[in-house]
Amino acid sequence: MQLTVNGTGHSLDIDPRTTLLDVLRDHLALTGTKKGCDHGQCGACTILVNGRRINSCLTLAVMHDGDEITTIEGLGEPGNLHAMQESFLHHDGYQCGYCTPGQIVSAVGMLGEAKDNWPSNVTADLEGHADLSDAEISERMSGNLCRCSAYPNIVDAIRTVKDKSLKDGTAA
Ligand code: FES
Ligand code: FES
Repeated sequence: MQLTVNGTGHSLDIDPRTTLLDVLRDHLALTGTKKGCDHGQCGACTILVNGRRINSCLTLAVMHDGDEITTIEGLGEPGNLHAMQESFLHHDGYQCGYCTPGQIVSAVGMLGEAKDNWPSNVTADLEGHADLSDAEISERMSGNLCRCSAYPNIVDAIRTVKDKSLKDGTAA
C-alpha cells in the first residue's frame, strides 16, 4: 500500500491487521503520535487524514491506501513551529506532554471543522456560523483527554490561534 506521510511517499507491505497508529510508530518511526488507550477513548493518537482528524488507533492502515497523513511531526519543527505548537508553548498547555501531540493535531483539525461550519453538540444554530466560544472549544476537544488536567491552558492556546486566524482572515 501507499501512504503519504508529512509530504513523503511510502510503499508499505504490512499485515492487514495493523492499525494506522502502529504503522506510524513502529514502521515509520514517527513516535510523536502517542498510544494512550489504543481503543478510541483518549485522543492521544489523533492525526489528520486528508485534512480531517481521526483516532489512528481505531483504523486499519490498509483502509488508507493513497491517503495523505499529517502527524505532529508534519505540522512544524523546532525553529519553524506551527502556530498551534507555538501557542501551546506560550500558554503552557501541558504538563507531562503525553497528550499534547494529539491535542495540537486535534485542535488544528477542529478549527478546520469550525471554519467549515460543522456544528458541535453545544452549537445553538445548526445552520449558521459556528462561533467558537470557550464552551464550543471544550466540547469540540472533548475527545482529547489530558490526565494532567491542563485544560484551561489548552483552551487558552486554541482560542489565541483561533482569534489570530480570524483577525488575519486565514485558516489556522
Ligand atoms: Fe487512540 Fe487513545 S490511543 S484514542
Ligand atoms: Fe499530561 Fe496532558 S499534559 S496528559
